[in-house]
Amino acid sequence: MASIEVDVSAIQSGQAIKTSWRKQPVFIRNLTAPEIAEANKVNIGSLREPQTLAERTQPGKENWLITMGVCTHLGCVPLGAAAGEVKGEYGGYFCPCHGSHYDTAGRIRKGPAPLNLKVPEYAFLSDTVVKIG
Ligand code: FES
Repeated sequence: MASIEVDVSAIQSGQAIKTSWRKQPVFIRNLTAPEIAEANKVNIGSLREPQTLAERTQPGKENWLITMGVCTHLGCVPLGAAAGEVKGEYGGYFCPCHGSHYDTAGRIRKGPAPLNLKVPEYAFLSDTVVKIG
């Protein structure tokens, strides 16, 4: 299936964009230092799907959180990627369909969703261009 290349140079710290790949939404988020710290201080053993931020990002690029924008409950598109949207109780993403809250690493923290937001296969081609797929 075709991959896409996305220029992330305009995404400021604290901002995110929605793009699409394989006809599904993808969120690309430039995490702030406090958001990274928040993700790293979580007790991994307490998570429904235990994963560290480092496992969900790439070395040296831990500020770039790239996930599918598809709730793992029943597939709604969570809020939190666009400016002004609510981010939920854990500061990441919030799915309004049935109230799932994801944290700043896109991990499920509260609500009915069973799994973290899926991380697609991706690679940085340069400091500013990421290939998804
Ligand atoms: Fe997201 Fe149900 S589809 S909480």
